[in-house]
Formats: sequence, C-alpha cells, structure tokens
Amino acid sequence: MADANRQTSNAVLDGLISRSSTPPRLFDGVSPKRSDIDRMLEAAMSAPDHGMVRPWRFHIIEGDARYKLGEVFAQALLVRDPVAPTGAVDKERRRPLRAPTIIAVCAKVDPSRAPKVPVVEQIVATAAAMEHLVIAAQSMGYGAIVLTGRNAHDGVVRKAFDLVDQDELLGFVYLGCIDGPRPTKERPDANKYTSVWG
Ligand SMILES: Cc1cc2nc3c(=O)[nH]c(=O)nc-3n(C[C@H](O)[C@H](O)[C@H](O)COP(=O)(O)O)c2cc1C
Repeated sequence: MADANRQTSNAVLDGLISRSSTPPRLFDGVSPKRSDIDRMLEAAMSAPDHGMVRPWRFHIIEGDARYKLGEVFAQALLVRDPVAPTGAVDKERRRPLRAPTIIAVCAKVDPSRAPKVPVVEQIVATAAAMEHLVIAAQSMGYGAIVLTGRNAHDGVVRKAFDLVDQDELLGFVYLGCIDGPRPTKERPDANKYTSVWG
C-alpha cells in the first residue's frame, strides 16, 4: 500500500487514543439503549480469537438484577469474613447500584483446545472482547469502566456466573449515560515501554 493511502489520523485512532474510563458517579442513571448494547456486543465479536473458541460470555445486569448481584457480593464478603461489619456488607449490596447497566464479562474456557490454544490465550481473547465492548460504548458517547475488586475472583460470585475450574470473570463493565465529556487523562510515553528487540 502506498504511504499516501495510510491514514495516521482517523476516527478509530482518535477514539483509541482518547479512550478513558468514566467513574460511575458521572452516570445519570439512564441505561444505554438495548440496540446500542447490541452494537457494543457486535464489536466484541470481532476480537482476535485463536482457534475461534468464542470463550467470551456476556451477562447483562440491569434493574432488579443489580439488587440480586448486590446480594451475591454481600454473601461473598460474609463468606470471606463472617464477622464483616454491617456497613461493609451494605456497601457490597449497593455496589452494583452505581450504574444502570453492568455487563459481566466471563471466559468459559475449553482446556481440551490446549496445547494448540492454551487457556491463557482464551482468556486474552475474552479480555480483547471486553475492551472492544468498552471502546464501542465510548465511541457511542456512553461512559464505561471495568471494575473487579475482590468480587470478580471470589468463589461465591464465580458460582453465580457458572464459572468452574480455569474459567475467569474478567470484569464488570459498568455502563451509563453521561452528560458531558469523558474525563481526559495524561498518558505515558509509549517509548518508555518499547524497545527494538534483537
Ligand atoms: C481487568 C480490570 C479490572 C479493573 N478493576 C478495577 C477495580 O476494581 N477498581 C478500580 O478502581 N479500577 C479498576 N480497573 C481500572 C479502571 O477500569 C480504569 O482503567 C482506571 O480507573 C484508569 O482509568 P482509565 O481507563 O481512564 O485510564 C480495572 C481495570 C481492568 C482492566
């Protein structure tokens, strides 16, 4: 391809370079439209996926389901710490209420595909899908942030999402409508993390 045809400035690059997470306190309480969520999920489907394993599973959590998730988080804390203070348990209960929509992104891995497609690569594919989803959400003007905390790796929470063995819950994508621009962030110099090898 001739250099003249290469666009080093375009909408996709601008979206990637300016990507930033939105803290849930900036959400206005309105869920993204279902048709827009479908577009985000469609974007997730083009993540690179060695062997086309399709390990990703997306669980949309809205409305009363957020209270159910809060109960799961509260139970998880009580199993970790049976004498957890009431305030801490309540905080877990309220955690999912910070966004109108949460998408739990899980990797249901197929260990029988290893060694050709190692489990770690299936998890990487799911992580890429999660990031496609986040970037798609932000490109449509929604706020999004990936959060995990202790919950994503807790046995009680894993069970609620039918995760076993080497499956992983990669993140809860908190989504919401925002009134105004996303936060802008200083980003590091890529050269600090780059070398020419060999
Ligand atoms: C897998 C994953 C889990 C994360 N979990 C948390 C978390 O539990 N709490 C938190 O404050 N940030 C968490 N983050 C970081 C935020 O999503 C976000 O990247 C961070 O606030 C920096 O903002 P930025 O994305 O605009 O650079 C997580 C990021 C990833 C990729």
